[in-house]
Amino acid sequence: MSLLSAIVFSLAAVASAGPASIRRHVSHLRSCYDFVVVGGGTSGLTVADRLTESFPKKVVLVIEYGEINPTPGVFDPPTDWITASPDQAPTWIFSSLPNSALDGKTALVLAGQTVGGSSAVNGMFFDRPSRYDFDAWSEVGGHAYAHWDWNGSVTFTAPTRAVAERCGYTWDVSAYGGTTPIYSSFGDFQWDDQPVLNGTWQDMGVRVSRECAGGDKEGICWVPTSQHPVTARRSHSGLGHYTAVKDTRPNYDLLVKHQVIRVVYPKGLKRGPPVVEIRSLADNSVFGVTVNSEVIISAGALHTPTILQRSGIGPKAFLQGAGIPVLIDAPGVGSNLHDHSGPPVQWNYTHYGDFSPVPEDMLNPSFKANATAGFDQIPATGPYTLAGGNSAIFVPLPNITANYTSITSKIRALVASNSAASYLPPGPDYASSPEMVAGYKAQLIALANLLDNPRAPSIETPWATGQIAWAFLLHPLSRGTVRLNLTDHLAQPILDYRAASNPIDIDIHLAHMRFLRRITKTDTMQQYGAYETAPGPAVSDDDEAALTEYIKKTIVLSFMHPCCTAAMMPRRKGGVVGPDLKVHGASGLRVVDMSVMPMLPSSHLSATAYAVAEKAAALIIDEWKSK
Ligand SMILES: Cc1cc2nc3c(=O)[nH]c(=O)nc-3n(C[C@H](O)[C@H](O)[C@H](O)COP(=O)(O)OP(=O)(O)OC[C@H]3O[C@@H](n4cnc5c(N)ncnc54)[C@H](O)[C@@H]3O)c2cc1C
Ligand SMILES: *[C@@H]1O[C@H](CO)[C@@H](O)[C@H](O)[C@H]1NC(C)=O
Ligand SMILES: *[C@@H]1O[C@H](CO)[C@@H](O)[C@H](O)[C@H]1NC(C)=O
Ligand SMILES: *[C@@H]1O[C@H](CO)[C@@H](O)[C@H](O)[C@H]1NC(C)=O
Ligand SMILES: *[C@@H]1O[C@H](CO)[C@@H](O)[C@H](O)[C@H]1NC(C)=O
Ligand SMILES: *[C@@H]1O[C@H](CO)[C@@H](O)[C@H](O)[C@H]1NC(C)=O
Ligand SMILES: *[C@@H]1O[C@H](CO)[C@@H](O)[C@H](O)[C@H]1NC(C)=O
Ligand SMILES: *[C@@H]1O[C@H](CO)[C@@H](O)[C@H](O)[C@H]1NC(C)=O
Repeated sequence: MSLLSAIVFSLAAVASAGPASIRRHVSHLRSCYDFVVVGGGTSGLTVADRLTESFPKKVVLVIEYGEINPTPGVFDPPTDWITASPDQAPTWIFSSLPNSALDGKTALVLAGQTVGGSSAVNGMFFDRPSRYDFDAWSEVGGHAYAHWDWNGSVTFTAPTRAVAERCGYTWDVSAYGGTTPIYSSFGDFQWDDQPVLNGTWQDMGVRVSRECAGGDKEGICWVPTSQHPVTARRSHSGLGHYTAVKDTRPNYDLLVKHQVIRVVYPKGLKRGPPVVEIRSLADNSVFGVTVNSEVIISAGALHTPTILQRSGIGPKAFLQGAGIPVLIDAPGVGSNLHDHSGPPVQWNYTHYGDFSPVPEDMLNPSFKANATAGFDQIPATGPYTLAGGNSAIFVPLPNITANYTSITSKIRALVASNSAASYLPPGPDYASSPEMVAGYKAQLIALANLLDNPRAPSIETPWATGQIAWAFLLHPLSRGTVRLNLTDHLAQPILDYRAASNPIDIDIHLAHMRFLRRITKTDTMQQYGAYETAPGPAVSDDDEAALTEYIKKTIVLSFMHPCCTAAMMPRRKGGVVGPDLKVHGASGLRVVDMSVMPMLPSSHLSATAYAVAEKAAALIIDEWKSK
């Protein structure tokens, strides 16, 4: 087909397509697209929504591996899809390689595999990071990256006065400012003993914060839930950025049940955008989608690197070993993997208060049936509208240990002595790559500064009730990898978490644990006869070896926040994308999802995924408007 007839054909297709509809077969696609978004998840649909809105004459295709379906979230009434039919599950389920620093422990990691991606299945905890997290990104990247600052907007609907009084919520609307089609609100349910831990934190000297979404992320925080303020139903990108707009957007196509294999540059890297090669999950047939303007990869931090690696954009030695021709030697692709992790403190009471309801009530079949019925109503009511809870503490390291500089000076000494690389994965693609080492050192310095900052949190402990408290390590120093499976490049990638491979992470965990172990000693807890059950009385705070052993045994390696595997950093520091999210060295190709963060923020990731995507969309729109 000539170029002219291709253009005429695609315009005709736009004119006759009518409202966007879901496509399940490539024969229903147009002959070419202006923009193709790979992955219909949290970030991808946000970008597609903004592009189709701003450019009514440009056609956008989103290609998604999963289906459009009502998907049970992780805290929704139990269904047995994970165990019954993992192939049909609306999530990817990964088990990482054994973690050698942690006695061979493996990480269990989930990721959404459905229209809406992880936002459609997640825990709906909708918190925003600290302003200092973004400052750290530009500290690593340099001046060109400074526009990735904290500023942005989120929709928040305040609770009614009655709900606010019943549940005790506080907020400050000025922290949010703005509207997006993604809702966040406070539900009308709280476990009756939620205030017990709040009192405990205050006894421990943690300050009460009225609002933590305004860039100051510290203290005892209320955190909104990503649900509709009236229906109390989940709000996610599939609903807000596709279903809600599709009927008014004849230029918005969605192809489901297709796996993007790779991108191909038939005319060379400088003459993008690339063709997007896809595979039908129904019949395995392979097809190339032609693109006019740009390809945007938004397959999430675990899959985006697989698409780049299959395309020949990745760590050179690894690609050569895999038999993939090297298009761009980009050692950062699939490197820099990290996640939030942490061990718990657990306790029991000799005489607890007469609280009702408490989570143990869910063991009572009639209470649980009532909770499920409440969840199925519109508006939804009851325990399931609380998801995993909506309160947490965020505490800076200087408030956790007076000895915090011993940790941060150790980090700086590691950089100064040129031994940081010894904790990176060995080999030419990582520990022996000057770029990767330079980037890691820059990250360590930025992380030491964050940990010294009395306003930037080091630990998060979310809670909904009281008997267990997890110590989330917000700023891990260890780095792992995502690599293709060498026997089957289309299979799930191999995750090597390498948590605690930098032993200073254990020092930070120790400080966090010693802090959390003060819980049972507080006046609030003592009034109920609280006693620690884990680590328990046999493990003394001073017995570093025993406490370390406990941490290694009980640590949960993934709180489902894998990130940073196509980091936004300069190429000379092992970065994969630049400040405009364009892949270094490739034309017509960007990455927009949680892979682009250089380092984890002090938050759960969904609000940041939306924010990164909104900002990326604004950059892309500006660029194409001025063309
Ligand atoms: C179980 C769970 C609980 C969580 N809890 C919370 C929480 O309470 N609060 C919070 O803020 N965050 C939470 N998170 C994290 C947060 O939801 C994610 O970090 C964020 O949504 C990721 O957004 P993304 O755009 O990077 O990727 P995703 O939203 O995961 O989107 C990636 C999409 O790409 C698709 N895809 C992948 N590979 C291909 C391919 N080759 N071809 C085509 N399509 C492909 C996937 O199917 C998916 O739909 C949770 C995550 C999970 C999994
Ligand atoms: C911050 O973002 C808001 C919109 O969310 C915008 O109105 C404001 O000008 C921005 N401020 C700065 C300093 O960029
Ligand atoms: C940390 O300690 C300082 C000094 O005591 C205090 O002002 C601040 O409120 C504390 N921060 C938190 C989050 O509790
Ligand atoms: C904690 O308790 C204080 C009152 O002591 C209250 O103002 C605040 O809203 C509570 N916060 C949370 C998250 O429970
Ligand atoms: C907690 O204590 C109660 C009695 O006070 C006991 O019945 C229960 O088994 C204990 N739970 C654990 C996990 O130790
Ligand atoms: C659940 O129980 C509460 C309290 O008894 C009741 O008000 C509510 O209507 C019940 N919900 C459903 C869905 O049955
Ligand atoms: C501070 O930390 C260092 C290094 O971890 C340790 O050697 C020292 O004993 C600690 N000092 C105090 C007072 O805890
Ligand atoms: C790699 O893929 C093969 C073939 O699908 C599979 O048998 C193997 O278990 C995978 N390897 C890993 C480590 O997951």
